[in-house]
Amino acid sequence: MRKDVRILLVGEPKVGKTSLIMSLVSEEFPDEVPLRAEEITIPADVTPERVPTHIVDYSGTTQGHREANVICIVYSVNNKKSIEKVGLCPWSKHLTASLMFLNAALVPLILVGNKSDLVEHSSMETILPIMNQYSEIETCVECSAKNLKNISELFYYAQKAVLHPTGPLYCPEEKE
Ligand code: GTP
Ligand code: MG
Repeated sequence: MRKDVRILLVGEPKVGKTSLIMSLVSEEFPDEVPLRAEEITIPADVTPERVPTHIVDYSGTTQGHREANVICIVYSVNNKKSIEKVGLCPWSKHLTASLMFLNAALVPLILVGNKSDLVEHSSMETILPIMNQYSEIETCVECSAKNLKNISELFYYAQKAVLHPTGPLYCPEEKE
């Protein structure tokens, strides 16, 4: 059994990384957020999988990132550019490559389409080809930090991706 899970949020500026973390913690949308959230730890007994879970806001440097067990790539569903950037995958290519090197295991990725309150249409059509391109992508979820839609689900998926990895992420050496 893992003793904890470390979730890292990355993505283009202003897609709502910090807001997502604050919304999860306070169960309400903060009108103003700092540039970055402090690292938070959710105690085991309030997480669905009963494992202490750390959530780290991307800081532009790699400090504290190397221990990430799962990376949430956040984009904004109303911002095409932020979606295209996921496709170019600066995060999954470079960040995952360095994490892979350090952890000797693939790190699962989760695509997070934030600000679903601002659009009527789903971004899934745009995101699907990207998902098919990268086997590291475990799942995708659309959510809204503003109306708290799918926020707890997002962090649950991240936790689950670490604790119950599927397919190519399975790494026999890691097991016990
Ligand atoms: P950087 O730290 O600068 O990279 O930005 P960030 O990704 O942390 O985004 P941040 O949480 O600072 O949010 C950016 C802006 O988007 C703020 O004005 C938020 O209020 C707004 N915002 C965040 N989430 C949502 C959402 O779900 N819906 C709407 N409508 N606005 C949101
Ligand atoms: Mg921020």
